Amino acid sequence: MTKATKRIDLRKATQADLNDVLRVAHLAFGEEEGPVIVELVTGLLNDPSAAPVLSLLAFDNNRAVGHILFTRARITAPETAVTAAILAPLAVIPDAQAQGVGGQLVREGLKRLADQEVALVFVLGHPTYYPRHGFRPAGALGLQAPYPIPDKNAAAWMVQELRAGVIGSVTGTVKCADALARPEYWRE
Ligand SMILES: CC(C)(COP(=O)(O)OP(=O)(O)OC[C@H]1O[C@@H](n2cnc3c(N)ncnc32)[C@H](O)[C@@H]1OP(=O)(O)O)[C@@H](O)C(=O)NCCC(=O)NCCS
Repeated sequence: MTKATKRIDLRKATQADLNDVLRVAHLAFGEEEGPVIVELVTGLLNDPSAAPVLSLLAFDNNRAVGHILFTRARITAPETAVTAAILAPLAVIPDAQAQGVGGQLVREGLKRLADQEVALVFVLGHPTYYPRHGFRPAGALGLQAPYPIPDKNAAAWMVQELRAGVIGSVTGTVKCADALARPEYWRE
């Protein structure tokens, strides 16, 4: 369990928050990976194929400490009408980590997506972190990633349903936004 839960304010990020969004991404992912993630976030926020996006910022006393981004996904082969989103990235700055900020961003994001009638949410991420928020391996459920995930990392490609009964009723390959459709983003 997370030791202490930081009290934060969560709200949608606007265009005026762009510097905060990118700063949080850079600090969270560090010098090496940070620039790649900053490029990804910038690309997704400017990518019509990513819309609708859900971009949430977490503030601790007016200081942005966390960010989560969800972008549009579709299921293809066969094409379905099921509404889906991909969580990427989730970022919490180092001095605010392990205090429940990431968890609050995930929960609030999922709640808002459910309100928008999104049925499935995917993530490629830490296989021990996301299951605590309801995600489970997607490949074994017949929902394949946009790029093949090596077997040894299969558990990192995860899904959860926000509408009961969707998992099991659809199978196929997930198509992500153009800005996310680069093999280097899928080498978890
Ligand atoms: C991963 C991350 C978003 C988690 O946010 P957070 O606010 O620190 O997480 P929470 O406080 O909600 O949860 C903390 C718990 O998650 C665990 N956790 C944190 N990072 C983890 C990781 N990489 N893999 C597995 N578990 C992790 C912590 O050990 C802690 O466990 P505990 O509750 O048993 O003590 C944050 O650490 C981060 O931004 N890391 C760098 C960027 C990154 O890796 N993003 C995720 C991309 S998928």
